[in-house]
Amino acid sequence: MKKKFLQTPFALGNLILPNNILYAPLAGCSDFPFRKMSARYKPGLQYCEMVKMDALVRNDQGTFHLLDYSPEMHPIGGQICGSNPKIAGKAAKMIEELGFDVVDLNCGCPVDKITKDGSGSGLLKTPQLIGDLVSNMVAAVKIPVTVKIRAGWDDSSINACEITKIVEDAGAVAICIHGRTRQQAYKGSANWDYIKACKETAKSIKIIGNGDLFDAPAAKAMFEHTGCDAVLISRGTMGQPWIVEDVIRLLSDQEAIERNFEDFRQGLFEHFLFTEAYHAPRRVAIDMRRVGCWYFKKSSGTKSFREQISKAESPSTVRELILNFLPTAIVEEAEMASCEVENA
Ligand SMILES: Cc1cc2nc3c(=O)[nH]c(=O)nc-3n(C[C@H](O)[C@H](O)[C@H](O)COP(=O)(O)O)c2cc1C
Repeated sequence: MKKKFLQTPFALGNLILPNNILYAPLAGCSDFPFRKMSARYKPGLQYCEMVKMDALVRNDQGTFHLLDYSPEMHPIGGQICGSNPKIAGKAAKMIEELGFDVVDLNCGCPVDKITKDGSGSGLLKTPQLIGDLVSNMVAAVKIPVTVKIRAGWDDSSINACEITKIVEDAGAVAICIHGRTRQQAYKGSANWDYIKACKETAKSIKIIGNGDLFDAPAAKAMFEHTGCDAVLISRGTMGQPWIVEDVIRLLSDQEAIERNFEDFRQGLFEHFLFTEAYHAPRRVAIDMRRVGCWYFKKSSGTKSFREQISKAESPSTVRELILNFLPTAIVEEAEMASCEVENA
């Protein structure tokens, strides 16, 4: 019998999600405007960018700002990063009190300034501490607790299965495994065999597969290869907020939606409008330098657009560029057509 990969709905502990195609936390990227865009396409769950536990418990206003969300972003998860079990419960409770549907523990961030005190992927070196952090989070909240890890610190210390068992015993409802090691950072490819091994180890904890999901066929291949319960799409959501729609259509044997240059332009323009409504003008231009490059990365003839937007100084320049840019392929086609008319 053909295995059903798409689950609508999908249960995460006591929480019922609309589906099992989830959107990842992306520090510096999955901000309020990004999540407004994502919410339009209804992923099963979307996570906010990570926040530090200690900043949260000392009521740091910038941290609350990162956790800002609007009602249509539900179901939404908050992710906390830290390694002190004494504050993990309190930080998780604060996420719950802010109205989040899920709280996640970050055990994957590879950045030195995070790992140096044993947080993020630094926790992969102390699996028992992950258990303590998760136990304290579970004891403090009613919302489901999830954990996001990497396969291991490096190739010689792969311990994703060991951590899966530990967090299952500690009461987490799901664990997301990014199939790269900390040593790899974001280089090379994710090894999905590690995710498969975690699925084979798990008794009841849900396994969420992550790594290299840039289109719908990749998500399907992840389900097939690993038998995971859900997938978490990360960089694949950048400039493709609709990717959940593509995955759902593929997994339910519906025809794919062909997206053309104008669809990407429209998506980018909406993202710009959400950014403009949320941030101060200077910040809008700076953010759109990054966001603008995502949307047209697959469209040919858009190099000059990316060059121009990456230097934009004001929202009005960004707006003009988005609305008026024509890729060279389209310009050449139009020129050819006008020559044909002239020569007729
Ligand atoms: C810019 C950027 C920011 C990220 N921020 C977070 C984060 O805040 N929390 C987290 O758990 N993972 C974070 N990640 C990791 C991703 O969620 C994901 O695990 C990783 O990119 C692998 O998936 P991919 O190969 O499909 O992109 C980040 C990755 C990138 C590229």
